Amino acid sequence: MATVQPAVQGTRRFTQQIVYDLARSIRERDVITYEHSRRVAVYAYRIARQLGWSRRAGRDLALAGLVHDLGKTWVQNAILHKESALSSDERHAMQQHPRVGARFLQIYGAPSSLVEVVLHHHEAFNGSGYPDHLAGADIPRGSRVLTVADVCDALTSERPYKAAMERETMRQRIEAGCGVHFDPVVVAAFLELLESDPDSGAHSPPSHLGTPRLPRRVVVARGPSAPLLRRAAVALPSARSLAARENHVAAAVLKRGGSLRYDTA
Ligand SMILES: [Fe+2]
Repeated sequence: MATVQPAVQGTRRFTQQIVYDLARSIRERDVITYEHSRRVAVYAYRIARQLGWSRRAGRDLALAGLVHDLGKTWVQNAILHKESALSSDERHAMQQHPRVGARFLQIYGAPSSLVEVVLHHHEAFNGSGYPDHLAGADIPRGSRVLTVADVCDALTSERPYKAAMERETMRQRIEAGCGVHFDPVVVAAFLELLESDPDSGAHSPPSHLGTPRLPRRVVVARGPSAPLLRRAAVALPSARSLAARENHVAAAVLKRGGSLRYDTA
């Protein structure tokens, strides 16, 4: 019988394997963060391609996108899903997530280029970000792309504590942050993409991206909204709307004090 050889550390296959394993662990811990990460991976890939990066470089960045918020799996639920503003202590705890995620990726043997992109995905172009207050070209270029993709999705997604923002308002916010929060070159590419690609704001991962092919899911939900979540899982909408619907339903469950967990079939 043929045996599957384990991937060798340092190879792309190894990196892909650990990223997919960690993406599964994110999904088990917090489905909202997982779906957000999946869309950020897609947006980052598209922006990178618009910037003229090779497919390979774009895919490497998409892998970083899938685990950019890995560190959030160690943030307490009370902080992660808080509906009101965070206190300064809570904000401090939340802002540890790039370091925590990068540390775990390092322990798992991820390449330093990927670790660096994750570590610096909350830096701002003018140096006002975290964790190291890097500015301009000192911020890894992948992190500069990821930041725009991250904010684009955060603004246009519904969360337990906020409604989704209209695409045009999101565009204006990103434009306003040009040179302050975001790299102007990345913003220019992002705006071009929005103009030229009507799909660039949709939740539809391209099949060639190599996002994790996870086993069929059985949703186990507890709490007052469990029937709602089960109904959404059974309805099996098209791939395009699945992520949006899961996100919406997961937000509703958490808002009503329920909990959820995804099991593999
Ligand atoms: Fe983050």
